[in-house]
Amino acid sequence: MPDPMNPAASGHHVRLGSNSGQPMTRRDGAAKVTGTATYAADNRPEGLVHAVFAGASIARGRVTFLDVAAARAHPGVIEIMTPDNRPPLHVNPDEKFHAFAWRTEALQDDTVRYAGQPIAVVIADTLEAATEGARLLAPLYASDPARIGFDQGTRYDPPAVGIGAEADFAKGDLAAGLSAAAQVTETRITTPLQYHNAMEPHAIVAEWTEDRLTLDTPNQAIVMSRNAFAQYFDIPAENVTLRSPYLGGGFGSKAIIVGPQLLAILAARMVQRPVKLVLRRDQMFGPVQHRGATQQVVRLGMEATGRLTALDHHATASTSSFDDFIEPAANASHNLYASPSIRTRHTGVRIDTGTPGSMRAPGEASGSAALECAMDEAAEALGLDPLEFRLRNYAETDPASGKRFSAKALRDCYAQAAARFGWADRPLAPGQMRDEDGLLVGWGMGTCLFPAPMFPARARAVLRADGTAVVETAGADMGQGAWTALAQIAADGVGLPIDKVVFHSGSSDQPDGGVAGGSAHTASAGGALHAAGGDAIRQLAEIAAADPDSPLFGTGNTGVTARDGRLYRSDDDSRSDSYSDIMVRAGLTELTGTGSGARDPANEERRAMFSHGAVFAEVKIDPELFQIRVTRMVGAFAAGRIINPHLATSQLTGGMIWGLSFALHEEGVHDLRTGRAMNADLAGYHVPVNADAPSVEAILVDETDPYVNALGIKGVGEIGITGTVGAIANAVWHATGKRVSSFPIHIDALM
Ligand code: MOS
Repeated sequence: MPDPMNPAASGHHVRLGSNSGQPMTRRDGAAKVTGTATYAADNRPEGLVHAVFAGASIARGRVTFLDVAAARAHPGVIEIMTPDNRPPLHVNPDEKFHAFAWRTEALQDDTVRYAGQPIAVVIADTLEAATEGARLLAPLYASDPARIGFDQGTRYDPPAVGIGAEADFAKGDLAAGLSAAAQVTETRITTPLQYHNAMEPHAIVAEWTEDRLTLDTPNQAIVMSRNAFAQYFDIPAENVTLRSPYLGGGFGSKAIIVGPQLLAILAARMVQRPVKLVLRRDQMFGPVQHRGATQQVVRLGMEATGRLTALDHHATASTSSFDDFIEPAANASHNLYASPSIRTRHTGVRIDTGTPGSMRAPGEASGSAALECAMDEAAEALGLDPLEFRLRNYAETDPASGKRFSAKALRDCYAQAAARFGWADRPLAPGQMRDEDGLLVGWGMGTCLFPAPMFPARARAVLRADGTAVVETAGADMGQGAWTALAQIAADGVGLPIDKVVFHSGSSDQPDGGVAGGSAHTASAGGALHAAGGDAIRQLAEIAAADPDSPLFGTGNTGVTARDGRLYRSDDDSRSDSYSDIMVRAGLTELTGTGSGARDPANEERRAMFSHGAVFAEVKIDPELFQIRVTRMVGAFAAGRIINPHLATSQLTGGMIWGLSFALHEEGVHDLRTGRAMNADLAGYHVPVNADAPSVEAILVDETDPYVNALGIKGVGEIGITGTVGAIANAVWHATGKRVSSFPIHIDALM
């Protein structure tokens, strides 16, 4: 039996109860669709006032004048915060003071570094008055030319990419690999700026009570962010309560602190009233991160047999003029295809945008787009079926580290998705298929890969004498279903049916649930919840074993199992005792267990840990108008133990639809003269609607991963976008014979 105190150390797969594995619907679904779920902006504390920030309309230069007097004269306006009167911050917002902090907009001075940058905040009795006040500021600028295109930016060698990843990597002898190759292909791909557009824009309600701060704001890393806010204001962390029970999407942009949140807290301090600040949709295009644009070159060297001899991936990615977040796109080539030589490099380009950041599968999304297009082109050069080519380069061990995989059921993913899709009927040459309406039909595929990290997480489980339990962790439900999947794991941890378990989550007053990012939330917070339950059960078993009135008296070494509110002797199922009886006899009203999510460091040392998948896509293209439709996508994914197949499927299909969005729709367009975003709304910034994604299927492939963590859980949140972009581009080639060189794929590229 695994040690419940340290299940990860056992190397065994922990058994879960019957709550896990059920396709439960979202437990918070009814509250959300009936409008009773309180999102951050729904909070209206007594005395609430409204803040609106004015955004710069130039992309570079200085603010020379703000008509503060005109704004102040507005009858509803209470206060105007500018660099001249902004209250002090204990941490310099220009500093990177921890790994997840970026240089933050906090009205530090009159410098403008990108269009849309906050330059002043107007606080008023009503949203309308604050909005009008911000308009009345009518700023004047001394402006410098915007540097927005890649050609206008300054290139540099970044010290790191993503969040602290290495910028360059080399294995083996690339030059030798290339010269030994029978064929070398070179694929060039560009990807655009993509802007975060979660359904719920960033919002905050901030209230000071002396030196206590209460925040309602959507957040993917609740306790970490609470701690950072406390540092900004030099108050003890326990003086800050950050509540984030519901998020209308996060996707990475709500994992960190962004300037507008700080500004609202500063405004609340200034006016000594609770302040609400909600970003307008257009304000999402600037100060709250985005995905940087990339230019990528992938060179592949192959033997005539199709085996890779060299893989060279160079990604140039945009960042801001004042901070470094380089989309780690080339790193997508580290862990997927076996090649004796691999080199990946990154170059940064400073342009006048806000700083990019994590956006669903940062790096893997754009990097796998280039890699999968390159693999398709190489397969064509060899005259091989694209799936066969990938199988010939199947990595039995991690190409970058040489480690064995903790588990890798990618062959099953290929086989199941290909069979379901009907891939075997695909003609090798492009332009061979037409549908009954005469549309060009193409089929393409891509491989999906995403790492399986874990974040430190803690949880508490309280058994109550009435046979129920309260379990807690400061987790974040961004819509992915954490409230449901985590509660399922927690209920199994305490051996109770889920309706006997009260699950508390979404507040910094709970134990740190870690980060709902990196597709690591279920593994991290779930592991902690399960361990906390195990700790409570262990204590309960000790009490029963020592109680002469318990049927479990003296069970010492034989151990017990917990299910449905009873402890059973492991060696004699007829001897059991209920939690309630044990606690009542012991005079306990409740019993508390604690636990943390853990991965055995020895496993981390020895094994490479990834979720895998494969996506097959069908496109239909009008032969005259070149309008592209993705008519069918089938993906199959192996991600360890699936806690809730319904929610996991929804995450995976959601990821695939974002892949479709990347391939055909999303693009932040800036005016090269002014540097302003030209499509800063959901009419101009295109994302797919249902009609754009008529058939999307995700198959869950069985995979037991005994090493990734005690519960064998990997992530499903981000992997769906990887592979899909390339699959669609490859299908477009298969329909038309035209190779894609830039995303999103525009009609004119096919003419
Ligand atoms: Mo995600 S981009 O790790 O929140």
